[in-house]
Amino acid sequence: MKDETPVLHVLDVYKSYGDKLILDNIDLSVKAGELCTLVGPSGSGKSTLLRLVLGQELPTEGQLLIDGEPVGFPDPTRGIVFQRYSLFPHLTVLENVCLGANLAAGLIERRRRRREIRDEAMGYLERVRLGAHAGKYPHELSGGMQQRVAIAQSLIKKPRILLMDEPFGALDPDTREEMQVFLLELWDESRMTVFFVTHDLEEAAYLGTRILVLSQYYTDDRGAGAQRGAKLVADYRLPRLAASTEVKREAGFAELIDRIRFEGFSPDHLQHVREFNLQHPDSFQTLTSREESAWT
Ligand SMILES: Nc1ncnc2c1ncn2[C@@H]1O[C@H](COP(=O)(O)OP(=O)(O)OP(=O)(O)O)[C@@H](O)[C@H]1O
Ligand SMILES: [Mg+2]
Repeated sequence: MKDETPVLHVLDVYKSYGDKLILDNIDLSVKAGELCTLVGPSGSGKSTLLRLVLGQELPTEGQLLIDGEPVGFPDPTRGIVFQRYSLFPHLTVLENVCLGANLAAGLIERRRRRREIRDEAMGYLERVRLGAHAGKYPHELSGGMQQRVAIAQSLIKKPRILLMDEPFGALDPDTREEMQVFLLELWDESRMTVFFVTHDLEEAAYLGTRILVLSQYYTDDRGAGAQRGAKLVADYRLPRLAASTEVKREAGFAELIDRIRFEGFSPDHLQHVREFNLQHPDSFQTLTSREESAWT
């Protein structure tokens, strides 16, 4: 059944830059409607993994599939929102959002559909509550508003998966929290599939229906001389409690964050690769023959 096909499927993916191994046999399956957050120490390869899903870069080895099809060059099946600089400064808010649709449509269709695209873009601007600001330029908006335009610009392409790389990282704490609540409301309405990278554990635990931990801090039996990259060392299913930010103050929330910090962020506490905390029902881990032979 089509519904059973994961939106994103990553199998035995390795990524090296030069002779430096960054991602080390990543396996991941994400179902439709999941709001997946990815955390990990700086430099563990979170953005690298996102770029592979986007198709901006190729894996050194392994496979990435969107709806069962191999990932190609960036196309409208994947939307992306970066920390900043997603908007064109010389275009109005409305034009910026239209551009998202324009890039997705061909030239002839674009001419024919100009009016339609503008209406559609206005619809998305209303959804991100910026209808009243359509004629402004990006520099006339606050950081949070600019990021909402960037989200609208991505959503108009109707991506199968929305990729976000530290989208709220440049915002002040209050605006950041407002944007978190906003994203959850948007997700509640649409149940879109989201893959959200952040190095803020609290943000990840608050937003995610699933939280993945990518880390270079683990141990295995490959010996001291082996080249190691980051692996997914933990994978949790989280209860989607409420959009209220009150949960951030609860004891269970702080405990989860402490545990994740321990599992992925502490160079002194190395978990063995066979004992990763892969609790999510879709989680899986295949060992390659190279790894198996090191363990037998
Ligand atoms: N184009 C590149 N060429 C060479 N090395 C790269 C390239 N891109 C990333 N790297 C290296 O790959 C590693 C992972 O980088 P990446 O940006 O994916 O980490 P990250 O987890 O997103 O970190 P941060 O939390 O700081 O954003 C880093 O050591 C980085 O220096
Ligand atoms: Mg990054």
